Order: sequence, then structure tokens, then C-alpha cells
Amino acid sequence: MAATQDKLKVASFFSGGGLLDAGFTKLFDIIFANELNPQAALCYKHNIGNHIVVGDLTELDMDQIPWADLYIGGPPCTDFSSDGANEGVEGETGKLVWDYFRLIRYKKPTAFLMENVAGLAGFHKSTLRRLVRDYQKAGYLVTVGRMQAQDFGVPQSRDRIFIAGFLKEYGKRFIFPLPTQLRKTVRDAIEDLPLPDTGKTVAGTFPNHVASWTSPTPERLYDVIANPRNQRRGMRRLEWDKASPTITAHIAKDGREFLHPYFDRRLTVRECLRLQGLDDSFVIPSEVKMSQAYRLVGNGVAKPVADALAYALNSQIKKLVVQLDLFDLIAQ
Ligand SMILES: C[S@@+](CC[C@H](N)C(=O)[O-])C[C@H]1O[C@@H](n2cnc3c(N)ncnc32)[C@H](O)[C@@H]1O
Repeated sequence: MAATQDKLKVASFFSGGGLLDAGFTKLFDIIFANELNPQAALCYKHNIGNHIVVGDLTELDMDQIPWADLYIGGPPCTDFSSDGANEGVEGETGKLVWDYFRLIRYKKPTAFLMENVAGLAGFHKSTLRRLVRDYQKAGYLVTVGRMQAQDFGVPQSRDRIFIAGFLKEYGKRFIFPLPTQLRKTVRDAIEDLPLPDTGKTVAGTFPNHVASWTSPTPERLYDVIANPRNQRRGMRRLEWDKASPTITAHIAKDGREFLHPYFDRRLTVRECLRLQGLDDSFVIPSEVKMSQAYRLVGNGVAKPVADALAYALNSQIKKLVVQLDLFDLIAQ
């Protein structure tokens, strides 16, 4: 492990556009990242760093992946979500939780973090139990935490499961950060934004704040306006003084868009980024297609949640080192 005064090293997997990693850049040294989707990786490079390797995790040579104090990753969640394929570990992407597990068992970082949807603790809780048991067998003291982004000042209801482990030899478990209780609304997040561009490019005068007039189609839009109850499935209009419903990757799809609370148009990518708690210094480069931009935002971890986890992991892992140093001193 790194000396206590140094920044701890992180390796990141299933890194997407880098929303989780954005919480770790200040306190940690991120030395490695991996992502399958080259479009998401463009966003990662722009905001986090060039260390990202584009490719399939299952095809990487584990010996080429560097050891780090902490491994973080959010394997795809569609197979654990009732809103997605929901096929669990039998699904094409569901099984990746085991690939991530095997990597951690092989590399033995001091600590690891895995993120997924709340469905992993619900319909798919047998998988969660197996994962916890197998991480324990692999030598970790494991904690499972459920974090509601709204409790951390995110203007969005976003319920997520995290599994965290510290190597058993340190004798401590990770303690999840407590909610900050700073409740925010859609109004707090997006009301001050200027009117969006209507141009074709993603990077307009206000980055990623471009309104698409083709999606949703006028017919679908009219349906929601005329029959607000139709919002329950699919397209939804946000409410100014409430938190947003969960922003998912599906909002990229026709018929699943979220509508602005006042204007008859879908949310812009910038509005979605704000609802994920990101400030406007996080920019998705114009080479990333609009649909991919929505996807990567919907796939990401809300920034204040990532911040809280990074802070807690950094201070607790550093204490593990101090504790071990003290043991060494006493033993001498
Ligand atoms: C839930 S998202 C992670 C989002 C990320 N944690 C964030 O906060 O931005 C899962 C990511 O895993 C990627 N992925 C899917 N299959 C993969 C594979 N076989 N190898 C590497 N990455 C993969 C997807 O492209 C997606 O970006």
C-alpha cells in the first residue's frame, strides 16, 4: 500500500463516461480505467484522463492490469433492473459481476467497491448473497450499502447498491457515509440555465445544452400533454419542486424521454448532467453522439454520491495503513 502521505491509487472498471471516477480524481490517483464503449471512453478521456483502455474486460490480460489500493467499478445493471433485461447473472451483461469478482480475487487490492441497481438487493438478492459470500471467501470483510442519491443533495431519486470490501488482514469493515440530508429539487438544478441551442451540434454556446426537436415526435409529445396519466410508462414531465425520477440510459430512447417541467421538449444532456449533480465543468465532447451522451449520463453514478464514497474510502483506507504501521512499531 502507498505511504499515508501519498495519494492512494485507484483502478477503475466499467468506467463509462467517468461519472463515478469524477468523484475520485481529487483525493486519489487514478492509474487505470477500462471501458468497452469507445464513445463513453471519449467522454472519460476528456474529463478524467487518457489512462483509459478501450476494450472488453473479459479479454484483458489480468497480469497487464496494475495493482492499486482500491478497485472501483459499476458492472452493467440492465440484467438486475426490472426496467432492463432483468435476466440476472444468466444475462449477457449480468455475468460481468463475476468477471469483476474474479479480477479482484486475483489482484487482491486493499479495498474494492462495486456499484449496481437496487434490484440486486431485491429480485436478485440471491446473487447479492453469493457475491458477498464469495468476496468473503476471497479474503475480504464485506459491507453492503444502499445509497439514495437524494439524501446526498442530488435533485434525483436514485437508489443504488454498493458492495465494499477491505482485505481481512486489516481487521476493519468499510463504513458507508451518512446522508447529508441536503434535499434539492429540479428547480434548484436547472432553472437558471439559459434557453438551449437548437443547432445540430452537441457542443453549443452552453456545452451539451442542445434541444432536439425530432425526439420525442410531436405526436408522442401531444399524447403526454393531453393525457398526463400516460406518463406512468415511458415519457415523463418533471416537476419543478420535486426531485427528478431516476435518470436511466433509456432516456436516450424515443418514447422514454424526460420532458422539461415547463417547455414542451425533452431535457437536454446538460440538464441531465445537472440532475446527476455534476457542475458545468464536466463536458461531453462533440464527437460523442447525442444518444450516447444521454446513455452515459443515465449509466453514471451521481457525483455527490461518488464524492461521499471517495471521501469515506480515502480516510478509512488511510487509517488502515496507519493502524498497520502502529502494529509494526509495537512489534519491533
Ligand atoms: C453502469 S455503466 C458504468 C458507469 C460508470 N460507473 C459511471 O459512473 O459513469 C457500465 C459500463 O460498463 C461498460 N461495459 C459493458 N460491458 C463491458 C465489458 N465487457 N468490458 C468493459 N466494459 C463493459 C458499458 O459500456 C458501460 O459503460
